[in-house]
Amino acid sequence: KKVYNIAIDGPAGAGKSTIARSVAEKLNFVYVDTGAMYRAMALHFLRNGIPADDEVAISKSAGEVNVTITYENGMQQVILNGENVSGLIRTGEVSAMASAASVYMSVRNKLVELQKNLALKENVIMDGRDIGTCVLPEADLKIYLTASSLVRAKRRYEELRAKGEECSLNDIEKDIIERDYRDMNRENSPLKQAEDAVLVDSSSMTVPQVVDRILALFQERK
Ligand code: C5P
Repeated sequence: KKVYNIAIDGPAGAGKSTIARSVAEKLNFVYVDTGAMYRAMALHFLRNGIPADDEVAISKSAGEVNVTITYENGMQQVILNGENVSGLIRTGEVSAMASAASVYMSVRNKLVELQKNLALKENVIMDGRDIGTCVLPEADLKIYLTASSLVRAKRRYEELRAKGEECSLNDIEKDIIERDYRDMNRENSPLKQAEDAVLVDSSSMTVPQVVDRILALFQERK
């Protein structure tokens, strides 16, 4: 039986997870959030006081840690050494550590293998930074989803405010720009648009518009 794979890459706050979750629901595909896996590893490094610039210590720790995912009511849960850490990985500290530690191949190889295995078994829509370029080079559809850094910062700001968290738009935009810079300029699997990916700039599109565009592109290709 043919298994379909859709890859969505793009910078922080482009709306990848919102869009991918909605497309998954419409197509009855499994949504795989790979950023959550890097975040779970980052939480492990933070808890153990391992500095991001110590590649030897990070690699040793990455070799020992166990990250997997499960689904609860269709929502991906990320499991770190048996503990469901899904509620603990959406902080600025974890974002920064995930971006800093994901430059190392020892961290990436382990998670990429898990991601490839998930996509072999079932229809998935997977989002991240290197899905179209490294994880699923044969994906049926590749999307590069982006938006201006101010639009992305504003969306993140509204999200945090809705959760009742105090935050500054300026700090959020600074964090996003710094993370994108590192993700795009690292040596290993940098964030970039795959040659065969479709560029979607969502700066002035609504969520349903982006979802419909992706569904239409998928119908053309499948
Ligand atoms: O997507 P999210 O913001 O949750 O990802 C957190 C960090 O994990 C990114 O800034 C990036 O450094 C890293 N990441 C990655 N490759 C992926 C997904 C995430 O390097 N496929």
